[in-house]
Amino acid sequence: MKPIHVGLLGIGTVGGGTYAVLNRNQEEITRRAGRPIRIVAVADRNMERARELVGSDVKVTDDAFSLVKDPDIDIIVELIGGYTTALELVMLAIDHGKHVVTANKALLAVYGNEIFAAAQKKGVMVAFEAAVAGGIPIIKALREGLSANRIQWLAGIINGTTNFILSEMRDKGLSFDAVLKEAQKLGYAEADPTFDIEGIDAAHKVTLMASIAFGIPVQFDRAHVEGISTLDAIDIQYAEQLGYRIKLLGIAKRQESGPTRGVELRVHPTLIPTKRLIANVEGAMNAVLVWGDAVGATLYYGKGAGAEPTASAVIADLVDVTRLHTADKQHRVPHLAFQPDQLSDLPILSMDEVETACYLRMRALDKPGVLADVTRILADLSISIDAMIQKEPAEGEDQADVVLLTHVAREKDINAAIRGIEALSSIHGKVVRIRMEALNG
Ligand code: HSE
Repeated sequence: MKPIHVGLLGIGTVGGGTYAVLNRNQEEITRRAGRPIRIVAVADRNMERARELVGSDVKVTDDAFSLVKDPDIDIIVELIGGYTTALELVMLAIDHGKHVVTANKALLAVYGNEIFAAAQKKGVMVAFEAAVAGGIPIIKALREGLSANRIQWLAGIINGTTNFILSEMRDKGLSFDAVLKEAQKLGYAEADPTFDIEGIDAAHKVTLMASIAFGIPVQFDRAHVEGISTLDAIDIQYAEQLGYRIKLLGIAKRQESGPTRGVELRVHPTLIPTKRLIANVEGAMNAVLVWGDAVGATLYYGKGAGAEPTASAVIADLVDVTRLHTADKQHRVPHLAFQPDQLSDLPILSMDEVETACYLRMRALDKPGVLADVTRILADLSISIDAMIQKEPAEGEDQADVVLLTHVAREKDINAAIRGIEALSSIHGKVVRIRMEALNG
């Protein structure tokens, strides 16, 4: 059977892994795909390293644009990352009638709508399993495995760097800065870790999952994004004492009861009950919890990054594209799971409309009436208190930490309460707020 020809853009960690796994498992992969999948050309700025990796049978170039136009190539695998050149190359590939497999979550979260529209028009596939949670086949699960369900919500630990940092902060009682430095030394965190630690990478991924789960256009610009760089180790400890663990979650949730109708799309540190399976996902591992009305809760766990785990997803897409590229275009799986003309206009809600329980920590003067003032502010806004602890003031101090857990309330009411509490003369400094999720469906 004639092999399908693949052109690889970028042969770094994931590209190298893809090349290695395709070679190692070629027999099994061919039996699945129905024909061999062969990388025939590689474009990389470092041609020497590329040549070392692929030997002399594969064409090596530093001109990605000419590779994308090569009529001998059927599928382009884009692994160069970033927005600018990657966008040009992906659009050019589509324009030349090539299918695209990409791991580029940033590109799809920001430009996905135009990329998918162009691909649809041209009748080519853009596959992106590797863009979300590395080796976990979560795109396939959401798009196909759960297609009977009305998906109500999903929540994921979808950034390994931050999960590693949070695990270390808890285990060793260290500050964020100390753990980040250590993680950089060990190669777990990038030299510029901004995308990871500020929640941007997780927001790219949850944006894509939300689109597939609910059949809505990709709307990264509407996502609420908070990272972990300002998280205090003391809150991790207090959360533990209360039976919770703090995780950076990407959350997408339908809200259709009451006056508002829309989708909550948010990334932020989140208290989750320690007894949940997902709370025990440690280190750099990823996990996604999805709740569908027919199936209930389902949990997907695995490595979210790394050469071969990500290659596993890239190659699964290559197998899919190889099988489907001769199929009637109308009968392929739609890019965003729902038929392109059936996408919903369900809006992404502003954070004011989001509903969560909250952990609130404040530094209070240890004198009569302070707690009464705080609880009155909450009661006036109809925010109900679920639990409360007050720590003893340290020797010689007259202030103590007070931690309150609220029941579910609207974000705008919680914001008003925080403003009121911070205005009390008996409260010092800012109130720390960390949202909570029960994750019990
Ligand atoms: N930087 C990501 C993480 C992996 O730390 O999970 C690639 O998406």
